[in-house]
Amino acid sequence: MTSYVIVGASRGLDYQYLKTLSASPSNIVIGLARSPAPVQSKVSADNLPSNVHILHGDLTDPSSLNVAAAQVSKITSGAVDYLIINGALLPYETAHLGPLDFAGNEQAFMEELNASMSTNVAGVMWTVNAFINLVKNSNVKTVIFISSCMADTELIGITGIAAAVPYAVSKAGANVVVAKYAALYKSTGVVFLALGPGFVQTQAEDPDNVPPELAAVQDAFTVAFRKYEPGLRGPILPEESVRMQLEVIKGITIKDSGKFLSHLGTKKML
Ligand SMILES: NC(=O)c1ccc[n+]([C@@H]2O[C@H](COP(=O)([O-])OP(=O)(O)OC[C@H]3O[C@@H](n4cnc5c(N)ncnc54)[C@H](OP(=O)(O)O)[C@@H]3O)[C@@H](O)[C@H]2O)c1
Repeated sequence: MTSYVIVGASRGLDYQYLKTLSASPSNIVIGLARSPAPVQSKVSADNLPSNVHILHGDLTDPSSLNVAAAQVSKITSGAVDYLIINGALLPYETAHLGPLDFAGNEQAFMEELNASMSTNVAGVMWTVNAFINLVKNSNVKTVIFISSCMADTELIGITGIAAAVPYAVSKAGANVVVAKYAALYKSTGVVFLALGPGFVQTQAEDPDNVPPELAAVQDAFTVAFRKYEPGLRGPILPEESVRMQLEVIKGITIKDSGKFLSHLGTKKML
């Protein structure tokens, strides 16, 4: 059996990981969510197989992650093959704001920056610290942090996207945290990777019926992203992103530890 722990498992790419991975009976898939009951109900409603387990875990609460690691250890007999840290704070209401928009509104910026750093940077550290001994006990020894193209400075320069500052800064910070762990664990064979998932349709309930406001935001991002990748059609579906991410994850070795790659398996983000 191959064990996967997906941290942040309630919706979007996180939940897609549960669906995709649980389709293989040789996998044990454990999702951590800050509100496990509704996720468990969704898992039952969607008839996901019995190899899916949902536990409580909050990226901002280290003790919840330590408790979850102890519970995971019992389910997987003390080892975790793949730890995938997917959950993140994505403040969509302020995602259109650039650095100058916070002039005179510094407190709002600091509140969002602190919340983003707490979930998206410190949360990654608390998760790795809680699970690293289980990862070391596996033969696979792989830790994946789901990053973002918004943290890629080349993409920022080419697209001119100046918005989503706290989110992008936190994702860039977590990429550095990943590199720090890679440096720390190089001799033990644990592989750490920051992985961009591409531009993915995760916010619409029905991808064939995207609400106009969301469609307008996605269209604006598509136009900007086309300066970086002219052939971009628009956001891809979660199924496609997760399938491509898993191909990358299966192909990495210790030589890749600490890198920031995308679902394409390269430094090109889209
Ligand atoms: N969609 C894209 O185009 C895109 C692009 C680049 C990167 N990403 C990255 O991909 C990952 C998934 O994004 P998504 O689009 O699927 O986002 P999403 O649909 O908004 O899902 C965010 C997930 O994070 C969880 N989460 C938030 N705060 C948490 C906490 N404190 N503890 C545990 N879980 C927490 C949420 O759980 P709750 O339901 O409890 O809130 C939810 O499951 C994120 O890391 C994001 O930065 C996405």
